[in-house]
Amino acid sequence: MIPWEEIDRAKIPGEKGDITLRKRGTEFSIRIAGIELMNSRLHGSEEALAKLTCSRIKGKLNLRILIGGLGMGYTLAAALEQSSRDTRIIVSELIPAVVRWNREHLGHLAGMPLDDPRVAVEEEDVAKIIRQRRSAWDAILLDVDNGPEGLTRQANDCLYSRSGLKTSFLALRPRGILAIWSSKADETFTRRMNQCGFQTETLTVRARKSGKGGKHIIWLGEKF
Ligand SMILES: C[S@@+](CC[C@H](N)C(=O)[O-])C[C@H]1O[C@@H](n2cnc3c(N)ncnc32)[C@H](O)[C@@H]1O
Repeated sequence: MIPWEEIDRAKIPGEKGDITLRKRGTEFSIRIAGIELMNSRLHGSEEALAKLTCSRIKGKLNLRILIGGLGMGYTLAAALEQSSRDTRIIVSELIPAVVRWNREHLGHLAGMPLDDPRVAVEEEDVAKIIRQRRSAWDAILLDVDNGPEGLTRQANDCLYSRSGLKTSFLALRPRGILAIWSSKADETFTRRMNQCGFQTETLTVRARKSGKGGKHIIWLGEKF
């Protein structure tokens, strides 16, 4: 068995604990405070987040898409694959080290999506970017944590709260989509999305691209 090698370690802005990047052969892992946030072997559901969303907004001109956060870039790469040349994607990433790791170590995993001219990176809390603008986005894709129950960053709970969902609702253009990744189902959260004005679909997707692996949940909430 090849041993894990720590490539880098960084502080998380405003939080206790470090974020680490580790490598074992061709496999990469990002961990926060000892919990695995992302592993390069499993990215089927991260890609599904973008594919399912983009399939619903395709055909519109000048699409504006916000993705939070970057991780290993799989969601971003899948969104680019589905998007035309006039689409612009802002990817928001809270931890500057993650952006640097994508440029120095991880970019090849998802085909160097940060190099695409349609992409701009903001090293910023996605909640702040959502609050800044109204009727700005055709889609907001959130994969910043384990889902509505959080795990890695308590401050992210606001994104899944009633007021956070209403803020996302206002930030979307008409017929825009709020797409949220989660490690597990949560019927209370589905109801909350509906109560905040979204017409919500709850989809089960598999962790592996092959259609195997654990089951993850994606909520697609459309603004009517
Ligand atoms: C599970 S990973 C995302 C994986 C990504 N979908 C992919 O395809 O690789 C979560 C990412 O969100 C970032 N993050 C966490 N909270 C955030 C926030 N409030 N705003 C922006 N990025 C955040 C983390 O640093 C991490 O890079």
